[in-house]
Amino acid sequence: MKKVCIIGASGKLGKYMVQHALDRNYEVVGVCRKKSVEKLDQFKDRITIVPGMTNGRQVIKKAVEGCDGVLTVLAPWGVNNYSSGTAQAVLDFAEPHARLIFSCGWHITKDGKDEYTWMMKTLVKVAGWIAKMLRLVDIQDQVRACDLVFASDKNWTVVRGSNLEEGESEGLPVWSEHVGDSILKSNLVRRIDFALFMVEALENDELIHKAPAIVGCQSPSALAHKSNIKV
Ligand SMILES: NC(=O)c1ccc[n+]([C@@H]2O[C@H](COP(=O)([O-])OP(=O)(O)OC[C@H]3O[C@@H](n4cnc5c(N)ncnc54)[C@H](OP(=O)(O)O)[C@@H]3O)[C@@H](O)[C@H]2O)c1
Repeated sequence: MKKVCIIGASGKLGKYMVQHALDRNYEVVGVCRKKSVEKLDQFKDRITIVPGMTNGRQVIKKAVEGCDGVLTVLAPWGVNNYSSGTAQAVLDFAEPHARLIFSCGWHITKDGKDEYTWMMKTLVKVAGWIAKMLRLVDIQDQVRACDLVFASDKNWTVVRGSNLEEGESEGLPVWSEHVGDSILKSNLVRRIDFALFMVEALENDELIHKAPAIVGCQSPSALAHKSNIKV
C-alpha cells in the first residue's frame, strides 16, 4: 500500500484516518468540500487536497487515480443521493486492484442476519423520518450506497461503526459479523479507533467482501468475550 485516497477527509473520522495513514507513511490524497479545506490545515504540507463535493464524479475520478486504497466516509447528508453518489463514483473510478473501505453505522445489514434491539429499530425509524422530513439526512441513502458496494466485485470492506465517543486510542476494535452477537453488546467505540480499523483494513485481505460490525477492544462486552464471561 503506497498511496491512499480519503474521501470525507475533513470530517472527524476523516481527520483521524489521515493521521493514521500518515503514521504508516502512505502518500495521502484527501477529498473534502471547498469550504472545509481549512479544516485540514494541520496536514496541508503533507497531503494533497482535492476540493469538491464528495459525490462529484469528476472530483472522485481525479482523486482516486493511482491509489492503492480508498477510504470513504459514507455520509447520508441531504436528500440528493450524497452517499450513494459517492459510493458509485468510487466503485466506477477506483483502480481495479485498489482496496476500498467504506464507513457506515450498525443499521446497515449485509445479509439480513443482524439482530437489532427494539430501541435501535425505533431510533433509526423515528430519527430517520424526522431528518428526512427536514431534508437534512436520508438514512436510506446510506443503505442504498452499501447495497451498491455489496453488489460489486471490487475489493471492498464495509466497516459498520457502533455508537461513537471521543478520547485517546484504546487499540484496534474487535468485530463480529452480526449486530446482536454478544461481543458487540457494549455498542461503543472511540472514533479514533474506528478510523484505525478502517486504515488497518486496507492491508487485511481477510476482510475483503465482509461488513464487520465493530466495538471498542476495551469495552465491557469485548473484555467479557475475551475472558469467556457471558454478558
Ligand atoms: N456519529 C455517530 O454516532 C456514528 C455512529 C456509527 C457510525 N457512524 C459512521 O461514521 C462515519 C463518520 O461519521 P461522523 O459522525 O464521525 O461524521 P464526520 O466524520 O464528522 O463527518 C462526515 C462527513 O460529512 C460531511 N458533512 C458534514 N455536513 C455536511 C453537509 N451538510 N453536507 C455535505 N457534507 C457534510 C463532512 O464534511 P465537512 O468536513 O465538509 O463538513 C464529513 O466529510 C459515517 O459513515 C457514519 O455513518 C457514525
